[in-house]
Amino acid sequence: GKNGIVHHHLTDSTNTRARELARDGAPEGTLVVAESQSAGRGRKGRSWLARPGEGLLFSLVLRPDMDPSRAALITLMTAVSVAEALIRETGIDARIKWPNDILVGGRKLAGILTEMSMELDAVDYVITGLGLNVNTPTEAFSPDIRDIATSVMAESSAPFSRVALLQAILSSFETHYHTLATQGPESILTRWKELSDIVGRRVRVSMMREEIEGRVTDIDADGVLLVTTDAGEALRILSGDVTYLDP
Ligand code: BTN
Repeated sequence: GKNGIVHHHLTDSTNTRARELARDGAPEGTLVVAESQSAGRGRKGRSWLARPGEGLLFSLVLRPDMDPSRAALITLMTAVSVAEALIRETGIDARIKWPNDILVGGRKLAGILTEMSMELDAVDYVITGLGLNVNTPTEAFSPDIRDIATSVMAESSAPFSRVALLQAILSSFETHYHTLATQGPESILTRWKELSDIVGRRVRVSMMREEIEGRVTDIDADGVLLVTTDAGEALRILSGDVTYLDP
């Protein structure tokens, strides 16, 4: 088809590569995959580390016809696709942690980095990037994250095909992306809520300037987290780090 797949043995960051391609007019569906990255990026300036060949590292160019205020839905949709593919292909009980982490048993298995570019007031392109620990042995995680990180192999005690996972994720993604475009966000939000079990939980949310504690009441139609603080104030959280306060 017209959608290209670009494969790198080593690149700085697939998100950066995909952004350059998008800027040069690459069509929706262009996929950039790498065996390893020298400057893999996470949210909030953090880095994403993966040894060559062990992780699934890719970024997808999207050109959704949506209002920029709804771009968070792309992150939620990617998370749903990844969790569903993992459950179906590996049997792992994958869960979503708002906004973009995939956890199993409280440990992080994958992260999503969504970046948007606007032209005038419309979305020009969105890059959604996934880092998934597939065949990473526990010893490969640095000591500071060993207790909070995991991989498909560590969870299922057998190595797993990265290509099979990539196909399953993209196929799930394509279905949801089509549904989002034609029917709106309701079914994604429903699925996201099922897979996240964050609604109803007590959380601490760390944001740029402040930290709050409260209970999650819902996510809204734009993917914004709704939290009622202990003081009774209703907040809309667009971006932040969530810690679960109850088990
Ligand atoms: C996070 O958990 O903070 C998000 C991590 C996203 C990492 C992936 S790896 C492939 C793609 N390229 C990057 O530089 N980052 C994303």
